[in-house]
Amino acid sequence: MERLIIFKTFSMLFACLFISDVTFGETRNFINDRQAMFDKSKSKMKILRQSIRDRDQEAGLAAITFHLDWSNKLESSFPPGSEASVTNSSDASGSIWSNFEGFKNLNTDYLNKARQVKTAIESEDFVLAKDSFLQLTRTCKTCHEKFRN
Ligand code: HEC
Repeated sequence: MERLIIFKTFSMLFACLFISDVTFGETRNFINDRQAMFDKSKSKMKILRQSIRDRDQEAGLAAITFHLDWSNKLESSFPPGSEASVTNSSDASGSIWSNFEGFKNLNTDYLNKARQVKTAIESEDFVLAKDSFLQLTRTCKTCHEKFRN
C-alpha cells in the first residue's frame, strides 16, 4: 500500500514536470518564431524601400505581400504567458496582455498602411507608394514605443 502511494506521488510529480516543460517549450517556440518573423519584416522593409525607389513593381509586391501575411498572423504569435521574463529572450511588454485591444488596433494600423502601399504599387504610383511606405514605418515605431521593452 505504502509503495503504491509513493509510486503515485512520483508519477504525479513527473507528470507535472513534463507538462510544465511542454508549456515552457511552446512559449519559447512562439517567441523564437515571432522574433524571426520580425527580423524578416525588417529586411523586407529594406527591399520594399529599394523597390519603390527603383519603380520595381514585381519586387515591391512580393515584399508588401510578406507584410500583409505577417500582419494577419501577428496577434496569434502573442499567446498569454509569452511576455518578456528573465527566463526568455523576449522584449514583449506585459502591457500587450493588459491592453490587447490597443495592441490589436496598432496591428490593424500596420495592416491598413501595408494595404495602402500595395494599392499604390499596383497602380504604379511610386510617389504615393513612397509616402505610404513612410506611414508604414511609423506603425512599426508606434507599436515598439508602446509594446516593446
Ligand atoms: C502591433 C505591434 C507591432 C508592430 C506593428 C510591429 N512590431 Fe516589431 N515588435 C513588436 C514586439 C512586441 C516585439 C518584441 C517581440 C519579442 O521579443 O517577443 C517586436 C520586435 C521586433 C524586432 C526585434 C526582433 C528580435 O529578433 O528580437 C524587429 C527587428 C521588429 N520588431 C521590426 C518591426 C518592423 C520592421 C515593423 C514594421 C514593418 C514592426 N516590427 C512592426 C511589436 C510590433
